[in-house]
Amino acid sequence: MRIALGSDHAGLKLRQRLVASLAAQGHDVFDCGCPDEQSVDYPDYGAAVGRRVAAGEADRGILVCGTGIGIGMAANKVPGIRAATVYDRFTTQMAREHNDANVLCLGARVLDETHATELADLFLTTAFGGERHARRVDKINQLDGCSA
Ligand code: RB5
Repeated sequence: MRIALGSDHAGLKLRQRLVASLAAQGHDVFDCGCPDEQSVDYPDYGAAVGRRVAAGEADRGILVCGTGIGIGMAANKVPGIRAATVYDRFTTQMAREHNDANVLCLGARVLDETHATELADLFLTTAFGGERHARRVDKINQLDGCSA
């Protein structure tokens, strides 16, 4: 799978671990930064990964900031992106099965690295449930470009 990853400084270490783990599994990984531990603004990286996924250059995105919240908010501003901030196996599974999330957002200050790596694997291997969920996801997609 083609996976774009991005983080701010707070998510740097976890993102680097995810990049290594996903590349070792044979995924095609695009590392969108940030480059080092210097303080940066998380919206820049949420947007970079979101744009890559929305353009069809990556199948999925994974984002990391301190909480997974701000970077997910930024990614969700990109039309076509359904970014989900998750904290455990249940929310990760639901984000795929019910919401067809195409970007996973993780909080490096919330999750330990081993748990976060397991959640990333679950996100990449869980299928969308379709059926009634497809109607609801279509309604989310129709909100792209709405001003309110
Ligand atoms: C950076 O200090 C922090 O605000 C950021 O990583 C993130 O948690 C924002 O949602």
